[in-house]
Amino acid sequence: ADKITAKDIRAMKQRGEKIAALTAYDFPMTRLLDESGIPLLLVGDSLGMVVLGYSDTTLVTMEEMEHHVRAAARAKPRALLVADLPFKSYETVEDALQSARRLMLAGAEAVKAEGGHSIEKQVRAIVADGIPFLGHLGMLPQHVREEGGYHIKGKIEAERQSLLADAQSLVEAGAFGIVLELVTKTVAGELTRSVPIPTIGIGSGSECDGQILVTHDLVGMFPWFTPRFVTPRMNGAEQMRAAVQDWKKSL
Ligand code: KIV
Ligand code: NA
Repeated sequence: ADKITAKDIRAMKQRGEKIAALTAYDFPMTRLLDESGIPLLLVGDSLGMVVLGYSDTTLVTMEEMEHHVRAAARAKPRALLVADLPFKSYETVEDALQSARRLMLAGAEAVKAEGGHSIEKQVRAIVADGIPFLGHLGMLPQHVREEGGYHIKGKIEAERQSLLADAQSLVEAGAFGIVLELVTKTVAGELTRSVPIPTIGIGSGSECDGQILVTHDLVGMFPWFTPRFVTPRMNGAEQMRAAVQDWKKSL
């Protein structure tokens, strides 16, 4: 089967085909998820928490992102490989362009950054450079310190309006899709119907065009914290402990 492009992901919305997306941070995981038929894989800056042991995503550096993008890209997935622009790497148009190019040189095929209207110029410059761009609205983890936690967005009218306006900004700037994180189901549905590009939800209800999860949450490999909206499909951590203990006893 042919390589999946940002255009193909966009076309899935028109066909009404649900988009399954997951995070991947290294070679084996990228290869396993690609072999499972996931069309969009994200080297997310959630890397900071589930792989590097940081408390939030603001500590992840560009060098760390490049290192993991290179590892994931070595799997040569059929999936579209998207990478997160890390915290403070896209404050100006020049920074955004340089950072996006670095991730592409490391092997990414598209980039994602958090924000709407506030980063519209950056998004336009990235898209004009030929780099496919995935938006990210709702709860923005790179702002967790200012916001004092991971709070649901869209409950108040002002938030609903800014979400819809930010989505419009991203469409006009040329984004091929939008991740919606922790947005109320009603507003996520309304926003999804208001844009021509796919929405990919995380903790934002069932009305998005697709869903994305942190793979470690889905397979129970980060058992010390599980987001409320995830039902793990596997007890990865328990199975690993049991396998290791079995082996130890067998010696
Ligand atoms: O970093 C990440 O994993 C993400 C997804 C959860 C959307 O941004
Ligand atoms: Na992220």
